[in-house]
Amino acid sequence: MTDAHTTGPFIAAIDQGTTSSRCIVFDKDGRIVSVDQKEHEQIFPKPGWVEHDAAEIWTNVQEVVAGAIEKAGITSADVKAIGITNQRETTLLWDKNTGEPVHNAIVWQDTRTDALCKELGRNVGQDRFRRETGLPLASYFAGPKARWLLDNVEGLRERAERGEILFGTMDSWVIWNLTGGVDGGVHVTDVTNASRTMLMNLHTMEWDDKILQSMEVPAAILPEIRSSAEVYGLAKGGALDGIPVASALGDQQAALFGQTCYSKGEAKSTYGTGTFMLMNTGDEPVNSYNGLLTTVGYRIGDEKAVYALEGSIAVTGSLVQWMRDQMGLINSAAEIETLASSVEDNGGAYFVPAFSGLFAPYWRSDARGVIAGLTRYVTKAHIARAVLEATAWQTREITDAMTKDSGVELTALKVDGGMTSNNLLMQTLSDFLDAPVVRPMVAETTCLGAAYAAGLAVGFWPDTDALRANWRRAAEWTPSMDADQRDAEYKNWLKAVERTMGWLDEEN
Ligand SMILES: Nc1ncnc2c1ncn2[C@@H]1O[C@H](COP(=O)(O)OP(=O)(O)OP(=O)(O)O)[C@@H](O)[C@H]1O
Ligand SMILES: [Mg+2]
Repeated sequence: MTDAHTTGPFIAAIDQGTTSSRCIVFDKDGRIVSVDQKEHEQIFPKPGWVEHDAAEIWTNVQEVVAGAIEKAGITSADVKAIGITNQRETTLLWDKNTGEPVHNAIVWQDTRTDALCKELGRNVGQDRFRRETGLPLASYFAGPKARWLLDNVEGLRERAERGEILFGTMDSWVIWNLTGGVDGGVHVTDVTNASRTMLMNLHTMEWDDKILQSMEVPAAILPEIRSSAEVYGLAKGGALDGIPVASALGDQQAALFGQTCYSKGEAKSTYGTGTFMLMNTGDEPVNSYNGLLTTVGYRIGDEKAVYALEGSIAVTGSLVQWMRDQMGLINSAAEIETLASSVEDNGGAYFVPAFSGLFAPYWRSDARGVIAGLTRYVTKAHIARAVLEATAWQTREITDAMTKDSGVELTALKVDGGMTSNNLLMQTLSDFLDAPVVRPMVAETTCLGAAYAAGLAVGFWPDTDALRANWRRAAEWTPSMDADQRDAEYKNWLKAVERTMGWLDEEN
């Protein structure tokens, strides 16, 4: 799909996501020149466990890079830099000498470290490391996952202590392989990904020795923490041989960057597998008292880091996938809208998809999913409607928390991600938030943000003002719901949320 008007040079971005890996080639105006994408297997060994095969992922990444370059009809000589973005927190340990993963990657949604997190909280509780890391102790983050692997893979701790093992989130894995792997690959991560390990100190941007000791993670396995936009090394081999690898950002931070939220108070919400709302809080980390996370937004080269407040929702698009793959109620994700539109309302049903417990603002790992309010009247169409409303209500809870923590009233919400092609959902969102919802021309803001950061690092774009100029509105939804009805529905939703909690007992 090469655009006849598009001329080089270009930036390539790799997005190693939860469900797929993709590569997108962008031109100087931030327009998409070509896309290639490949899904990978979701491995569910037990209830609550989710794994990925990291070798499969690396093969897919190489394929989509080659695919996107070919579809663009260009050569590596036309590409000025490669940017990386990735599913966050998903944790891998691999052998430095063979390049082989020692175990499947443990995915961010995986809850196997629940008990470990409780144990790590000791008498202090969930906030034991919050001051240093901005995060509550929860199975979501990478550090406890690394600890689980070190404790549970035969002989691994000894090998790690001998310096034979490398730890990384998917950014590190992709960059290490891209830059040569066993043949001189660089072992780095960026500040945004590092801020999701629970091992980095948010204030110093360095690994925190005390936490490493408490978590029993040896420093020898950790990557070097670098900024989000700088040249880490050159790609070695493959379709982009010799091209600088020049950015890394966790996917949600990349979307913040791609949505050009460069000023304090600007926020975006991304609707993919899960949903993540981030607000730029400038160069000071803001503590949350309302269940949000404090995280690094981005850091460009040796400039000051920019922090963000984040509301994380574990299950949104994946609930639509579940309706398709596990329930067989729809044949494609888009069909959820057709089905939901066939009825006027939810028929009294509320669906709280606490499949991985509840993330923000509750952080309850003992919660599990419920459908509440069922009567004989409810049809699959009502359930479809409840599925979409679940995404919108969860966003409402996050924006309420954001307003309390930041003191900034939401004037409009910038959205992006795969679910934003659903008009009914976007209208519902605007209704529940009682605020306009706006979507930019390029809904692939995750890749775009990684491309922007890489382009800044190599001087392809001069500064963030040049990037802002590329942002264009494609669609806007405005609220049209009666306030009393909204309040009544919100109350019902919160009642349904109550019913998810405490499902798991201490013992299991
Ligand atoms: N029309 C639609 N209505 C509702 N949900 C949709 C629609 N189209 C796609 N989705 C959902 O959006 C998600 C895909 O969005 P997107 O491509 O942004 O996610 P992703 O970036 O691939 O996720 P990840 O990065 O986690 O792999 C899927 O979970 C899918 O179920
Ligand atoms: Mg994504």
